[in-house]
Amino acid sequence: MTKREKAVPINLDPEALGRRAEAMLFKLAAISAEPERLVRLYLTPEYRRAADLVALWMRETGLQVFEDPLGNVRGRAGEGPRLLIGSHIESVVDAGRYDGTLGVVAAILAYDTLARAGAKPAFGIELVAFGDEEASRFPTTLSTSAALAGHFEPNTLALKDAAGVTYAEALRAYGKNPDDVAGVALQPQDAAAYVELHIEQGPVLEAAEQPLGIVTAMVGQTRLSIEVKGEAGHAGTVPMNLRRDALAGAAEMTLAAEKIGEGGMVATVGMIEARPGAVNIIPGSVRFTLDLRAASNEARSKAIAAFRHECEKIAARRKLEVTFALTHEIPTTPCEPRLQDQLAAAIEAVGGKPLRLPSGAGHDGMSMAKLCPIAMLFVRCRGGVSHNPAEYASPADMGLAVAALVRFIEGFKRP
Ligand code: HGY
Ligand code: MN
Ligand code: MN
Repeated sequence: MTKREKAVPINLDPEALGRRAEAMLFKLAAISAEPERLVRLYLTPEYRRAADLVALWMRETGLQVFEDPLGNVRGRAGEGPRLLIGSHIESVVDAGRYDGTLGVVAAILAYDTLARAGAKPAFGIELVAFGDEEASRFPTTLSTSAALAGHFEPNTLALKDAAGVTYAEALRAYGKNPDDVAGVALQPQDAAAYVELHIEQGPVLEAAEQPLGIVTAMVGQTRLSIEVKGEAGHAGTVPMNLRRDALAGAAEMTLAAEKIGEGGMVATVGMIEARPGAVNIIPGSVRFTLDLRAASNEARSKAIAAFRHECEKIAARRKLEVTFALTHEIPTTPCEPRLQDQLAAAIEAVGGKPLRLPSGAGHDGMSMAKLCPIAMLFVRCRGGVSHNPAEYASPADMGLAVAALVRFIEGFKRP
């Protein structure tokens, strides 16, 4: 509960909050490695500039701001176990303006609204801007929230980006010391709960004509890196029936993944690289990725086994070799039902209908759930489009979302 000097409920102006959110998001979106598209990868100079801007905004609200050894920007207030409110500020390649950043901006605006009203929550508050949620630089994901929740995988430090720079080298170049990573972990007594506000990145809220929704669970994910080895050869002289074409084999495996995903799951081959990669050479080797998600953990592991079996059959028939490396696996992560109910009350307090839905996208809450109870508030986005520059959330919906977040904080009871 929030102890307040004044008993009256905080007066909220969702329209003004929405306009402020949009202006802040546009400022953040201008910080990119490329002029024509939004690219802001973890621990890059653009990430540094975005982190500095977010730290400035947090400081302006009166929060005690610091940066931890992973480059997470954190702002604290109050005493006791903290309600953590966060999202990520690094982006996918060719990103939209709202994925991740809306959650950080909304947290800042919500805290600023409470601070201006003289509200003194009866619990601590900590805002967190995470990096590396998108796996857009290193072949890992959720690593900085994993560190905060106390389960950072040490072998992450040796992972390399496309330029061959390791995660540890990138941390050093950013002015951090990889040896300090373990010290980032919060203790369970530090964290009362974690809540994240995020665009839905799907079509459900728009179809239901609702601006806000409550996440019931984030579906589990398995990500593989698959190597297919055949034989490079001359494109003009090797007859088709004598080829060991790694790319043709990988293409058949991609279609097998699509088929397996049809059973109510989603399966995506997002990256493929053929080597040596010349117009007149039969590809001798191919690396491609699989991202498979399902609400049921059992169905997901069965689907992965079926995919591997299909690939091995295709490889045998085409005299190819195929190997699999697991790059990410996380189970379906439920949101705390009592916090879902508190979000429902907050949404109703701002005039919304408390619609509950699962998240097909992964989020930092999947890390934080290992530390404390989690909750997630979704905001409608146009056409459900995301991971795309056409991503859009209206100032009206964003303002309502910030208002609901304020009401959630005011009514927060540690589950
Ligand atoms: O891939 C995801 O689910 C998230 O957007 N990083
Ligand atoms: Mn996101
Ligand atoms: Mn994303």
